This record gives sequence, C-alpha cells and structure tokens, in this order.
Amino acid sequence: MARVHLFEFEDQAWCPALLRDAATDLLRFALNLGGHYRCVVPKLRAALERCGTRKVVDLCSGGGGPWPSLLLEFDAERGGAIQLTLTDRFPNQAAAARLEALAPGRIHCRSESVDAMALSRDLAGFRTLFSCFHHFRPEAARALLLDAVEQGQGIGIFEVTQRGLLALLLMLTTAPIAVLLPPFLPPWRPSRLLLIPLTPFVALLGLWDGLVSCLRTYSPEEMRALVASLPDSGYAWDIGELHYWWGLSPTPITYLIGTPPEPRC
Ligand SMILES: C[S@@+](CC[C@H](N)C(=O)[O-])C[C@H]1O[C@@H](n2cnc3c(N)ncnc32)[C@H](O)[C@@H]1O
Repeated sequence: MARVHLFEFEDQAWCPALLRDAATDLLRFALNLGGHYRCVVPKLRAALERCGTRKVVDLCSGGGGPWPSLLLEFDAERGGAIQLTLTDRFPNQAAAARLEALAPGRIHCRSESVDAMALSRDLAGFRTLFSCFHHFRPEAARALLLDAVEQGQGIGIFEVTQRGLLALLLMLTTAPIAVLLPPFLPPWRPSRLLLIPLTPFVALLGLWDGLVSCLRTYSPEEMRALVASLPDSGYAWDIGELHYWWGLSPTPITYLIGTPPEPRC
C-alpha cells in the first residue's frame, strides 16, 4: 500500500483546542491503559545508556502520550530518574499541570509552541516522538532526523499506527467507540460537556484522522531509506517492528532509534 499524505484536522492551526485536546487526551488515555509502548522501554533504556543521558525531550507530545506509564517503567529500574521535557506545536495546556504533578521537578511541559522542525538549542537531550512521525512529509521527516544528527542528539521514533489493511480495519471498528470517551476524560473541565452534542462530528473527525494516520505511517523500509539519505555521521541506527501485548498484538509498533558515536546527548 503506497504512502498517502492526506489532510488531518489535528494538523490545522484553526482546529479548536477543545477538539485537539480531546484527541490527545484520548490518545494518552488509550496508550496508558493499553500499555502499547511498554515493549519499547528496553530499547529506549539501552539507547539512553549509549547516549549517557537521562534527559529526554519529547516532541509532538500532545496530552503526554504514553509517558505517564513509561515513567513508571523507568522508575522501577536502576539507572537514575529521567528528566522529561514535553513539547508541542499546539501544547495541551490543560493536561500540563496534571502531567507535571506526576513527577514533580522531573517533568516539565513547555507552555509555548515548540515546532519539532525548528528546535531551539537549549532543548538538549534524547529526542522522542510517539505516534507523530507520520505528521511529517518525507522531506520534513528527513530534516527532523538530520537536525538530531547535526546536534549530536539521540532520537527514538515510535509509531503505533501502521499502513495496512488490518490496522485500517481496527481503526474503523475502534475509533467510533473510543470517541465517546473524551467528554469524561481527565483533566475534566466544564467545557468538555460541549463535546457531547458534537459527538457525531467528533466521531467522524476522529475516525478520519485515525485512518489518515495509518495511511501516512512510514514502513521500516521507508525509514531505512530516510536514514540512508543522510550524510554519513557514524550514528548507529536500529529500525524495525515490535509487537506489544506480550508479542501478541495484531499490528506492530514501528520504531527507529538513532544514537551518536560520541555521547553528546
Ligand atoms: C497524534 S498526536 C500524538 C501526541 C502524543 N505524542 C501521543 O503519543 O499521544 C500528534 C501531535 O503532534 C503535534 N504536532 C504536529 N506537527 C508538529 C510539529 N511540526 N511540531 C510539533 N508538534 C507537532 C500535534 O499538535 C499533536 O499534538
């Protein structure tokens, strides 16, 4: 199936924060309940060790993604606590205080807009991107990888969506049910009640963005081609697929991990 980069509502600057935050809160809820990304922890931990850092800069963080449960996984292991900075072009301000309270002093949510394509130099640390690499067209995706290499930072990209018939079918069946949840999800606020009369519209919007996310997702081969187009840097690249739920998930997580030859993270 060829990659198609169709329009997503979530990418549009005019998309109201009420809808965008509902979508990213739903994603955080589902990913932490389902524990989809737990399977990447050993690889992520090893990459941080190779980089000699415990500082993580998460890009396109939305409502925090899988980090609440991943932090628990990291905390359960030796190696020192992680310092996590969450960033987004359209920060989910309502979720920020709640996320920071999960690990006071260790999670910092940038309240200003941070474009993953134009990172300021003070954002040093191992870069992570969960469920969002598909937002970048190939030229932008390559530029994002190149910037990590030029800044000598490690990078980990993880995608739970997949470009395939089964993933599309699963999205078609689960998304319309899942979108009934946002009016009741934390951080709850009265404005969330506005989502109830909008439910049919929200369901269509969520389903569209979910299906388009699948159709935009890069395959491991496409990720390898992106990496191969970068200038030689001595980076070690690990690209592949991992099945979650004890290896039994119907579709895999696609991942790309890059670590510099010299720890500079
Ligand atoms: C599908 S959500 C994923 C959120 C989160 N990582 C998760 O796993 O739940 C995609 C996020 O990418 C953000 N985003 C899209 N383009 C971006 C860019 N150029 N720079 C920073 N964030 C961006 C959106 O605002 C949105 O919050």
